[in-house]
Amino acid sequence: MYQVFISTYQGLEDILIEELKELGISPSRLKVSRRGVSVSGCDLKDIYTFNYLLRTALRVLINLDHLRINSANDLYDAARNIDWSEWFSVRQSFKIDAIANNSEFFRNSLYAARLVKDAIVDNFRDNEGKRPSVDFDYPDVKIHVLISGNTTTLSIDSSGESLHKRGYKSGIFRAPISEVLAAAMLKQAGFNSKMNLFDPMCGSGTILCEGYLLATNTPAGKFRRHWAFQEWKNYDKGEFLNLIDSCNANITKFSGSIYGTDLVGNNVGLTKSNLGNVGYSSGRIEKADFFESANHFNVESGLLLTNPPYGERLELSEARDFYKNMGDQFKQQFSGWTAGVFSANIPALKGLGLKPRRRIPLWNGPLEGRLFLYDLY
Ligand SMILES: C[S@@+](CC[C@H](N)C(=O)[O-])C[C@H]1O[C@@H](n2cnc3c(N)ncnc32)[C@H](O)[C@@H]1O
Repeated sequence: MYQVFISTYQGLEDILIEELKELGISPSRLKVSRRGVSVSGCDLKDIYTFNYLLRTALRVLINLDHLRINSANDLYDAARNIDWSEWFSVRQSFKIDAIANNSEFFRNSLYAARLVKDAIVDNFRDNEGKRPSVDFDYPDVKIHVLISGNTTTLSIDSSGESLHKRGYKSGIFRAPISEVLAAAMLKQAGFNSKMNLFDPMCGSGTILCEGYLLATNTPAGKFRRHWAFQEWKNYDKGEFLNLIDSCNANITKFSGSIYGTDLVGNNVGLTKSNLGNVGYSSGRIEKADFFESANHFNVESGLLLTNPPYGERLELSEARDFYKNMGDQFKQQFSGWTAGVFSANIPALKGLGLKPRRRIPLWNGPLEGRLFLYDLY
């Protein structure tokens, strides 16, 4: 049985806990920390499940050792004593990601990474007479080393690429919101399969795609093609394929409708294509200026959820005007709706001019923002 650490963005820890409870994980196995949740007593099937289903997870790490160190050599010894051959073979490549905070032995995380790399190489060489190679760009196996003061955690990454990369995006968009954050916002706003969803500034359509996945109970990983655990020696392909089948069998119907607008025609195309990739082609996505068209779909109620431009290039007064105009549209055109606006421009967001039902601190990666939720009457 393994101890697992599931990382997420700061501010999403409680939603991640809720997701884990929904999967039937007993609260006694869960421990929250900053930017993540530890889960004890996990088997490989749990690890596959977390990677396939969790919407608010970024990475699932398996804890291989957690210890106090009194010298740099203690880190080498700990890594030297792990049975790496349980996880990967000498023919596979690996990479070490190390972080060292407040350590008297490791001023430099590169030194920690090199020691662990040496320990792994020495371990294989002693046991098998050969060593695996290091690949910084496309390693088969990624090992994480976290040194915090005098404690060290060595773990192996079961996810590979961050889990916000769901695999359904067709094109590159300049300022997308993270899929993980979009899913968390939809959950906080209480979105479900009977509601309509409208993003008036939809960009590449992340909120709309995540809304469809959430409402239909479609697994977050359904469109992803690869996870790091598939490279492990102990990968049980049959178990993973069974899990995929049983999770996909729980996909349900969506009885709401999805609407989107954006000023930029290219974004409209991207959103349509991304929605098509998740299996929803009947959305109404149009090129329009929200301030001119507002609720031109004439929909009675639903969830309006959006992340407008933060206005980094605007003066605060211009950004305030932009948000104030949004608030005016909400009041005039969307009575009966729930609205949610996420922005990292908190002063401008406050200028929206309506009293939020909830103000939720959330981070879009390193950017601190707020999700304001409104009931519009
Ligand atoms: C931060 S991006 C949204 C990103 C989107 N959530 C995604 O994940 O791709 C803001 C979007 O608002 C659009 N926009 C700006 N002003 C607008 C307006 N007045 N009406 C409609 N869309 C607008 C921009 O073209 C841009 O695509």
